[in-house]
Amino acid sequence: MGKPGVFNKALICDPPILKVMQSSGGGAAEHLLESEIGVHWKEEELINPPPKFIAQANMADPAIFERFGEENFPECFREYAELLSWDRYWHTTLDTSNPPFWKWFVGGKLNASYNCIDRHLAKHRNKAAIIWVPEQEEEPDQILTFQELYSRVNEFALVLSEVAGLKKGDRVTFHLPMNPSLPVSMLAAARLGIIHNEVFGGFSAKACAERMEDAKSKILVTCDGYYRNGQWIDKKADADLTVDEASKVGIKVEKVLVWRRYPGKYLSKAEMVAGRDYFVDELLKKMHGKRVYPIPMDSEDPLFLMYTSGSTGRPKGCQHRTGGYLAYAAGTSKYVQDIHPEDVYWCFADIGWITGHSYIVYGPLALGATTVMYEGVPMFPDPGRSWRIAERLGVNIFHTAPTTIRMLRKAAPNEPDKYNYHFKTMTTVGEPIEPEVWRWYYDVVGKGEACITDTWWQTETGGIMCSTLPALQSMKPGSAGSGMPGIYPIIYDENGNEIKKGERRAGNICIRNPWPGIMQTIWGDPERYVRQYYLKYCKNTSSKDWHDWPYFAGDGAVLAPDGYFRILGRVDDVIKVAGHRLGTKELENAALTTKEISEAAAVPLADELRGHVPLIFASLKPGATPSKEIEAEVVSNIAKELGPIAKPRAVYLVPDLPKTRSGKIMRRVLAAISNNEDYGDVTTLANPDVVETIRKTVREHSV
Ligand code: WT7
Repeated sequence: MGKPGVFNKALICDPPILKVMQSSGGGAAEHLLESEIGVHWKEEELINPPPKFIAQANMADPAIFERFGEENFPECFREYAELLSWDRYWHTTLDTSNPPFWKWFVGGKLNASYNCIDRHLAKHRNKAAIIWVPEQEEEPDQILTFQELYSRVNEFALVLSEVAGLKKGDRVTFHLPMNPSLPVSMLAAARLGIIHNEVFGGFSAKACAERMEDAKSKILVTCDGYYRNGQWIDKKADADLTVDEASKVGIKVEKVLVWRRYPGKYLSKAEMVAGRDYFVDELLKKMHGKRVYPIPMDSEDPLFLMYTSGSTGRPKGCQHRTGGYLAYAAGTSKYVQDIHPEDVYWCFADIGWITGHSYIVYGPLALGATTVMYEGVPMFPDPGRSWRIAERLGVNIFHTAPTTIRMLRKAAPNEPDKYNYHFKTMTTVGEPIEPEVWRWYYDVVGKGEACITDTWWQTETGGIMCSTLPALQSMKPGSAGSGMPGIYPIIYDENGNEIKKGERRAGNICIRNPWPGIMQTIWGDPERYVRQYYLKYCKNTSSKDWHDWPYFAGDGAVLAPDGYFRILGRVDDVIKVAGHRLGTKELENAALTTKEISEAAAVPLADELRGHVPLIFASLKPGATPSKEIEAEVVSNIAKELGPIAKPRAVYLVPDLPKTRSGKIMRRVLAAISNNEDYGDVTTLANPDVVETIRKTVREHSV
């Protein structure tokens, strides 16, 4: 075997389950470079999967690591592409002629909507494709069989083309919550090659308008409203604001298509604008029974955009391709999540993020699985809700984020015991998971029966980069496992030297090779794509050899002696709040819309449940005096600009922000003060005295 982390097959075939103890290692890091992050933890034990799981797993053959080894790259990825139905087979698996703009499965043609729906009809017409669980517990679930999904997607595709006038290559923006209208809209767009651009439902109208402007998208698909935490949220009112905000940035929204939660009944207070706004249920009636042919798309035709925060102010539109993305989502869903068509799979995440695109919609549906989607929050009406859903629907694969796991653990640590459900695999994604929390997930939620996969990846990567393969590699609490088959991660220090296994030093995790799920580019800004992800460690910018172009992920990581990566978090200016990625610059720009504010810095404060929450430090313009009103206005402006998820925990109005002599704001110092950490030597700053003042302010108003 020889592959990192693959355990000895002889051991696992022999029940009872063997727990392989690992000699303890770890310890404090020494000689860290500026950008490196200290690591102090003990090595965790390895835990092996139950034999019963291995017996049914999609991937229990250790030869997969050889098949996907570097000597078989890139052809190994045929194995994923062959999970799909192609209208035309590709002639070139990977084209590297214009790095880092990789092309995958070149010459191939396929349709994502066909792959997720039509091809399953012959065998699974009456099987549930999507089970939607409304937040109101007394409201019945909605079950969309593959046939029903097929009808709805065809009919809505006709609305997109005939009413909205959209055609292949156009962008359509969705500002939709967790409601079946969202996957239906996505698959309808994909059917016609219309590039969908879903903006997370919890983002503000302004954030939606900005993304419409960047994508040059003139059609908005929204809904009248939805339930969240027991409250009805009026979404159509947001759409009107979006149209206003979009017009300010030069986009005239031509049509607003409004899905109604209860067809025929309009629950928003906002008026419909004649000639601009349409009820989708009324339009659908006209399309009843009509079908459209799924257009065979080039592998490289874009499937969707997904905006994400980066280190500068403007969100980046990650552009994902049809063939490579879908192949990668399907392959990883099959081997990491171990999804079989007969499984009931529930990814408790939001489709408004990449997790939902890849692992609620495209991956599971490409495999013909049943995917559960839940409208609401984990704690509504009580912390038993998730386990009731699992029990009632017979969910056997569960997937969520550490922030949800922490919240459920804190609220009702013994609650899962009361319910009769059985998971075979559980996934965690989005943030590092603390070993403590991992163990609760394993012992209590998983009842000691389920394999956990800790999956590390990003919006940009399209699918999972690091994880264990559940039937082949042991689990290790807090560790994201090794690179996926065909993914060759590496850790570099700031100078581009490799940090090897067991060195106990943190560095920047990179991926040495291209893979099918990698985004194609940043929409409208290819130069930023190169700069942000490739220039840092590129060995030769004129080279056409992929070996010279490692992908820089922006995360700190450490590589244990067994070849497992432990992800430490972002090294750039991104704050992860409850698994949502927010840019410090976006937060600061929003804070600066408060007229009294002169300068602002956003920093992450560690939070027991949400991972991190933002804090704002701001200085005032001359003549303004600090007040509670200004602080409150900063909070409300941030909520207005970005959405309620971005609200800072506190706003500190301070005389000045710590700066280097060249004027760079030292967020690191502010973060250290806020988190009660050592902020190091500040004597070389331009204004060292202000650090003490800020420290006092923070101490006096601890949050
Ligand atoms: C960032 C990407 C990928 C889907 C959801 C988030 C962090 C992601 C893990 C993990 C530790 C993780 C990283 C990454 N992250 N998964 N298993 N362990 N950290 O996508 O919003 O693009 O965020 O999330 O910092 O860079 P995203």
